[in-house]
Amino acid sequence: MSNITDKINLLKKEKNAVILAHCYQPVEVDEVADYVGDSLYLSQVASKTDADIIVFAGVYFMAQTAKLLSPDKKVLLPQIEAGCRMADMLSLRQLKEFISKHPSLKTVCYVNSTAEVKAECDICCTSSNAEKIVKSLGVSKVLFVPDTYLGKWVEKQLGNVEVITYPGFCPTHLQIRPIDVENIRKKYPDALVLAHPECHMSVSSIADYVGSTAAIMKYVKESKNKSFVIATEQGVVDRLKRDYPNKEIIPIKNNLICPNMKMTSLEDILHVLETEENEIFVEKDIARKAVHCLDAMLEVC
Ligand code: 13P
Ligand code: SF4
Repeated sequence: MSNITDKINLLKKEKNAVILAHCYQPVEVDEVADYVGDSLYLSQVASKTDADIIVFAGVYFMAQTAKLLSPDKKVLLPQIEAGCRMADMLSLRQLKEFISKHPSLKTVCYVNSTAEVKAECDICCTSSNAEKIVKSLGVSKVLFVPDTYLGKWVEKQLGNVEVITYPGFCPTHLQIRPIDVENIRKKYPDALVLAHPECHMSVSSIADYVGSTAAIMKYVKESKNKSFVIATEQGVVDRLKRDYPNKEIIPIKNNLICPNMKMTSLEDILHVLETEENEIFVEKDIARKAVHCLDAMLEVC
């Protein structure tokens, strides 16, 4: 058998494995993926699957989250070097220092973070449920780590909660500037601008819609509009172009990619399925506390 897709599909069956892929992965990964979506959806899938092996086509924190939610499964990351540059901006020491300045406040942690960080926070969130999660705490002031822009976006949406943010950010989304939005609106006046909440506030506040990767894809699917500017990573653009050939899908910038998300290849997926290398482990005590933070989120959403 020569076709790599066939080999992967055969191994999936033989080993009772499932492949989860984030919307920023190279689009060809979808050929073998069982589930494609945003962080929240994939976390929910990982918490419910009865597969023996989860291959997570994504970045490290996503595979680690899957392991926390499915501790009895073998979780494999096709490219072990694929990290998240935002998650790397917040170490446990930096988190403790940040919390020590506001000891009485609850801490909400974006899922783009390490298990060590999750273990010290009260509740987790993703880009699609952050507003709901902060609201669920019923407080007027909260700490939010590590993404300052998602935190500030939530503060603006809620209006009655002060969100004190750690200064982390996504280098990919921060490449988008308000001038890009202004220029593209001049060129495509009928297009709606759809942005991810990791964008700088000066971008999200002038977008027509702000949502997670999956929410942006759903918006395009359901909208009667024909033309859309996509202010997030290229993977969303590629999937939308594939799925909606009759709609006009315009990237806000050419080649806006997350280099770590683009490390995964079909060969890597085949390799981990064959060898079961790149297994993710989390130290027991950290896992116990980090799961609490994730479970608190899944109870709300
Ligand atoms: P989603 O929550 O939209 O999946 O985003 C995760 C992410 O890493 C975006 O940069
Ligand atoms: Fe992390 Fe940004 Fe890549 Fe998302 S796009 S995985 S936040 S570096």
